[in-house]
Amino acid sequence: MVLGVLGSGSGSNMQAILDAIEEGTLDARIGLVLSDNPDAFILKRAEKHGIETGIIDCRGFKTKFPEEAQAETALRLQEAGVELVCLAGFLRLVKWPLLDVFPQRILNIHPSLLPAFPGLESWKQALDAGEREAGCTVHFVDEGMDTGPIILQESVPILSDDTAETLHARIQVIEHRLYPAAIRKVGRAVL
Ligand code: GRF
Repeated sequence: MVLGVLGSGSGSNMQAILDAIEEGTLDARIGLVLSDNPDAFILKRAEKHGIETGIIDCRGFKTKFPEEAQAETALRLQEAGVELVCLAGFLRLVKWPLLDVFPQRILNIHPSLLPAFPGLESWKQALDAGEREAGCTVHFVDEGMDTGPIILQESVPILSDDTAETLHARIQVIEHRLYPAAIRKVGRAVL
């Protein structure tokens, strides 16, 4: 199974996927890592492992993922033979035409128990709302923001002395196990 990863930041989830592959618990390879942020650490991590990387040119838009950029992204992923696309901390909304080129083939990881707390810094939202548990979700990407059918989800208790940082760190530990597991599940089901 050939994976393509899109990320805007640190890439710890991409690293977890890579670790699972290298440990032999995920039968896949990462064919291409793309980022909309030329300085993103995810690119450095990928390069260190000899993985092809590239920059997505979003034409100066800060948050929008313009159609031309989505078309270019789809083409690059196709050229790299990518079968499944994993969003890992990618901060733009994927829509047409990328979604249509990879129908039911784009996954995202989100740090909340969706459908609760979509959007940014969800762990903070859960903490501020006085919730007793947070969590993370891997789901198929559709036209919405953090919507789409759920593949796997796991909860994380919120402790009385949690800060946004400690909670996020504990959620990330779970994310790093959950994402490879979700890719395995989808790989078995659809590829
Ligand atoms: C993760 O918390 C993920 O749930 C969210 O963005 C963060 C990405 O972290 N979508 P990383 O770049 O994988 O370290």
